[in-house]
Amino acid sequence: MNDYLIGFRCASCGARYAPDQVTYTCPRDGGNLDAIYDYARMARELDPWQVVHRPDRSIWHYAELLPVCPDAHLPTPLSTLGWSPLYRAPALERALGLRAVWLKDDSRLPSASFKDRASAMVIARAQALGIKTICVASTGNAAAALAALCAGSDLQAVIFVPEHTPEGKLVGMLIHGARVYLVHGSYNDAVALAKEACRVFGWYNRSTGFNPYTREGKKTAGFEIAEQLAQADRQRAVPFRAPDVVIVPVGDGNIISGVYKGFDELRMLGWVDRLPRFIGVTAALSPSLYRAWQRGDETFETIPSRTIAGGIGTDRPCDGVMALRAVRNSGGVLIEASDEEMLDGVRVLAESAGVFVEPSCAAAYVGLVKARQMGLIAPDEEVVLQLTGSGFKDLRAALRAAGQPIPIRSLADVHP
Ligand SMILES: Cc1ncc(COP(=O)(O)O)c(C=O)c1O
Ligand SMILES: [Zn+2]
Repeated sequence: MNDYLIGFRCASCGARYAPDQVTYTCPRDGGNLDAIYDYARMARELDPWQVVHRPDRSIWHYAELLPVCPDAHLPTPLSTLGWSPLYRAPALERALGLRAVWLKDDSRLPSASFKDRASAMVIARAQALGIKTICVASTGNAAAALAALCAGSDLQAVIFVPEHTPEGKLVGMLIHGARVYLVHGSYNDAVALAKEACRVFGWYNRSTGFNPYTREGKKTAGFEIAEQLAQADRQRAVPFRAPDVVIVPVGDGNIISGVYKGFDELRMLGWVDRLPRFIGVTAALSPSLYRAWQRGDETFETIPSRTIAGGIGTDRPCDGVMALRAVRNSGGVLIEASDEEMLDGVRVLAESAGVFVEPSCAAAYVGLVKARQMGLIAPDEEVVLQLTGSGFKDLRAALRAAGQPIPIRSLADVHP
């Protein structure tokens, strides 16, 4: 275990625990746990230039800031995971009148979603614990990531997904040999079943907003964005650099809290001088988190989700408290996206930036357009959209945005 890791702190009561004292949530009140490190000692002992000059281009590049690293004998996708491309979208910059729009494209990770980052970290922890079966409740991507990254190892993935999970995501689990249970019910029903199964069968639970190691994997996207931005500067002056704004699609809230944590840790180390503002984008038809944001408290009602954007559809966010804090502490906002806006966003991102994402992911683009219209982002600002998942896993949704091909018999039917 990394000796910079001090332990875990409860997001609800603030209680602190040693690294091996807790497994999932706070034993006192069930609050979500957050890993804490000895940042003061790390700042003294570690040179950020030395970190960014490491030849390894994977999430393990940031070993001192991670709770565990996997053992050396790894299936390759796990050992090389991370370092997804960060590229500009000039057509979006022109259309929206912005200095710089960057896309952090996690649809290019091995299982084609951001969730690989979290699954990798949980697998490393399971290896350290000597547990061979990892279980997860998921809307699809987290499970596909777990299945893909367990492949070729002695680990078994057991998955609980809601009945309406898109076929592309199901295939992405089954093809790697995961055992998949299709739950008659919602994502939150799957969450409850996975939790109970882990208690009864002794499996290790990867579920989002429950296992504190997922956020540790997800924060690596924040590190990478800051490192890649600095690297892209014509004359690189710093090892890491923060943009003005980061926009993230939000369901349970674990991704936004993770990417935020990446930047916050760099700030605590003195490796970036400020935090970006975090704009979280929720589905209007999955309103629990947004309502808490509007009320200004940290309590969540259970409201059945009806959005087609399955990845950000949740009846009650599992990591809502940390998500709200990421937005508030960074001076950001939450914005809602309708299903129609997300489908349109899928098309716009595909046509103007060359990237094909799922509707949940396109929520980030919807947030960008709305934030710009509301005057929340100035023309001279630099924005990063966190892309979270490939459109190829939910073709049924994408077909609603893509239109139809033109059937022909001969060139006589072609009109240039
Ligand atoms: C593509 C995609 N985007 C965004 C999210 C939202 O992440 P979180 O639930 O951590 O807020 C998910 C979660 O499943 C997802 O699959
Ligand atoms: Zn607590």
